[in-house]
Order: sequence, then structure tokens, then C-alpha cells
Amino acid sequence: MKCENIGFQVAPAENQEQLWARLQTGIAELKESEPVVFFFMQEVLGNTNNFSSALAAMLCHYLFPDQAQNTLYHRLLLNTIEEHKEICQAAIRDLGAFCERDPASLCMLQVFFFNKGFIALQAYRVAHMLWNKQQFQFSALMLQLRISMNFGVDIHPKASIGSGIFLDHATGLVIGETAVVEDNVSIFHEVTLGGTGKHRGDRHPKIRKGAVLFAGAKILGNIEVGAGAIVAAGSIVLDHVPAHATVAGTPARIVKSK
Ligand SMILES: CC(C)(COP(=O)(O)OP(=O)(O)OC[C@H]1O[C@@H](n2cnc3c(N)ncnc32)[C@H](O)[C@@H]1OP(=O)(O)O)[C@@H](O)C(=O)NCCC(=O)NCCS
Repeated sequence: MKCENIGFQVAPAENQEQLWARLQTGIAELKESEPVVFFFMQEVLGNTNNFSSALAAMLCHYLFPDQAQNTLYHRLLLNTIEEHKEICQAAIRDLGAFCERDPASLCMLQVFFFNKGFIALQAYRVAHMLWNKQQFQFSALMLQLRISMNFGVDIHPKASIGSGIFLDHATGLVIGETAVVEDNVSIFHEVTLGGTGKHRGDRHPKIRKGAVLFAGAKILGNIEVGAGAIVAAGSIVLDHVPAHATVAGTPARIVKSK
């Protein structure tokens, strides 16, 4: 089945009810054309009846594949998502980012169920909320491990990540504890937002709005990648990058200023 009719565009302001209705319509349309996928999605979602419970069910399926029916894990995810409305709000904006910025994205339904970067990002969002609650930091770290084991994406739950984020492929992505990623940033596979190994405390990069970090970029230290800046594939960035500049190479140098 071609899925260009199943909600390809997700307007940033779209609410959870509309999104849930669109997902259901999309799944129903698969019943005739791709029954195996239809039953898979039905099984993953179970008895869910809104977007937040669908998100919890989907995350539980992928994070705890051996124990997806375990109500303890499911409740941890669902309670956190329902308590923190900003998780679903960010998920909707992320869906929009994946659909708009990834030429390989077919539709929202595909991103929600089959895009590793999207799924890992939403799981991080749950872990981040748990981390911030202090008494649930072990739960947050357990999720970090499961995300890493299942998707090859290692994001410390303390790291701060905005919304409208696009993670392309996502394999090998590492984001350290004190990193900040602002809204509308795009990050490709094998990117590291790491420390230099020489400092403790606030030691990770700050990525400002709308920056693009291409495949394999290593950005090291408490440095800033300015708004709208581009880091070329394979670069090692050791110094601040001005807003809207393009940097490339090892160590990275400015190759374009606008
Ligand atoms: C950054 C990028 C988008 C090019 O941007 P651009 O503004 O079009 O830059 P240009 O191609 O004009 O290159 C400008 C200079 O930077 C150099 N450069 C570009 N990319 C580079 C890289 N990854 N590493 C080292 N140097 C690079 C060019 O050789 C050129 O140098 P010159 O001025 O001495 O000739 C591109 O190089 C890139 O890194 N794309 C990554 C794509 C990717 O990650 N794909 C994975 C998809 S899964």
C-alpha cells in the first residue's frame, strides 16, 4: 500500500485527537492491502484509545520486546507520558520534523511504528522526565540502557533536547549528560555530542536552534554550535561554531559563513 494519503504532513499545531484519528484511519486502510502489518499494529496498540496510550504501548513493545505484556513496564511508560503532557506535544512536533525533513519518510504512520530515530527519541523523552523526578533516576537509566541495547542510540536522560527534532538513521548517536539540543535541530547517524575527557561538570556541547549535524560529526566539549549552523559529515568540532556558518574537516574549520 502506498501511504501518501495517510497523513504525510503533520502541521505543528495538530492536536493529539486529530493525530490519533489519523493513525487509526491509516491502520484501518492497511487491513485489506497489508494484513500482516495491520495485525502487527493492532497487536502493538492493544486496547489503546488515544495518542498517549498508543505512544506508551508502542514504546513498551520496542523497549521491552521480551516482556511487552508486563504491566509494570507498561505502567511506568504510560503514567509518565500521561503525567507530562509535553511528551506528546513534543512527539507531535517530532513527527512533523521527520515527515518534512526526511525524503525517505513515507508518512506519519510509518515514522510512528518503524522509524528507529523517532522511537528512540520518544523513549528518551520519557527517560528525561523520570530523571528530573529525582526519585526515578534508576528507572531513567534503565530506559537509557534499553534504548541503547535496542536501537544503538545512547542519550543520557539528563541531556536537554527540544522538540521538532529529526534523527536520521540514529544508529551510533551519543548525546552526553550536560548536552543541550534546542528546537528544530537535525542530527544524522554516528554523531557524538561528547566531552573532551578533560573536564567534569558542564562539559558537553550546546546545539542551538535549527542546526544540522551531518553523519559522523564529533562535537566535543562545552562549545556552542550556533543557530542554523551546519556541521559537515565526519567533522571533529573543538571550537564554537558561529550561527549559520558551515564547518567541515578535522579539526573543523569554517568553510561558509552563511
Ligand atoms: C556540509 C555539506 C552539506 C556541504 O555543504 P556545502 O555548503 O554545499 O559545502 P561545499 O560542498 O560547497 O563545500 C565547501 C568546502 O567544504 C569542503 N567540505 C564539504 N564537506 C566536507 C566534509 N564532509 N569534510 C571535509 N570537507 C568538506 C569542500 O571540499 C569544500 O572545500 P573547498 O572550498 O576547499 O573546495 C556536505 O559536505 C556534507 O557534509 N553532507 C553530509 C551528508 C550526510 O551526512 N549524508 C548522510 C546521509 S545518510
